[in-house]
Amino acid sequence: MADQLTDTPAESTSSDSEADRVTGAAILRVVDLEVHFGAVRAVNGVSFEVQTGTAVGLIGPNGAGKSTALKAVGGETRPTSGRVIFDGIDLAGRPSHVAARAGMIRTFQLGGEFARLTVMENLLVSVPRQRGKSIWGALGGRRWWGAEDAAEIRRAREILSRLELREKENDYASDLSGGQRKLVEIGRALMARPKMLLLDEPMAGVNRSLARHIEHALSALRNDGLTLLLVEHELGSVERLCDRVLVMAGGRQIASGHMGQLRSRQEVLDAYLGGR
Ligand SMILES: Nc1ncnc2c1ncn2[C@@H]1O[C@H](COP(=O)(O)OP(=O)(O)OP(=O)(O)O)[C@@H](O)[C@H]1O
Ligand SMILES: [Mg+2]
Repeated sequence: MADQLTDTPAESTSSDSEADRVTGAAILRVVDLEVHFGAVRAVNGVSFEVQTGTAVGLIGPNGAGKSTALKAVGGETRPTSGRVIFDGIDLAGRPSHVAARAGMIRTFQLGGEFARLTVMENLLVSVPRQRGKSIWGALGGRRWWGAEDAAEIRRAREILSRLELREKENDYASDLSGGQRKLVEIGRALMARPKMLLLDEPMAGVNRSLARHIEHALSALRNDGLTLLLVEHELGSVERLCDRVLVMAGGRQIASGHMGQLRSRQEVLDAYLGGR
């Protein structure tokens, strides 16, 4: 991990609009977030803001509390205390479907049942169906799909094109590489028209070229105004993609700033070297 920190800095994707993005209105405000599991203070008083249309990275050593913080923000894990104000609504302690309805969507690993569906089907079943149709019924009874479904198929194709997965539309998810599955997970989240995406290690276990592909897809989405909060260990990608980075260690936020600045900060190096 320390090696990654001292890697040659990656080329920057910062642009003239970066200052605007960083100083714009906050879509997410997290205040004094605490998540305790018995005696374990997995998240121990974390506060941060995410400006609309920016990408914020959450980094730190294993066990730092990154995933727990992300889950508490997205409503999967109930915070012990603190506030999670998203787009003006306090979501702390509310279930994830409330966050999703407000426009904050977390990507999920494709479960076993999704491997047996095609890429297109995976995107279509991620959309809540109207008129009480079950998702499986809708897939089974394809010939009854109406205008609503045709619009969703068009939308799914647009998303797949953006992710450069359009030619995989009819492939089974089980035949995809790990990296392509990660892209399908992102595609499924995009079907919900999110304002903000939460991603936990979107590049983990993916080969370098697909990791770049995922990074570019996320960068393009961010440039189109989507707000991103991502946990990631691949610090080169974090540096290129993220407008700002928060460093966690031992449940606390120990530093924040641009990745380039953080690489030389002693407390960050110490955290990665196991000094905490
Ligand atoms: N459901 C749980 N019950 C009890 N303890 C938990 C639970 N989830 C996480 N923890 C503990 O909380 C701490 C933070 O875990 P978390 O998974 O958030 O770390 P992380 O920063 O995401 O680490 P990694 O980089 O390895 O994914 C760890 O000590 C972990 O064992
Ligand atoms: Mg984690």
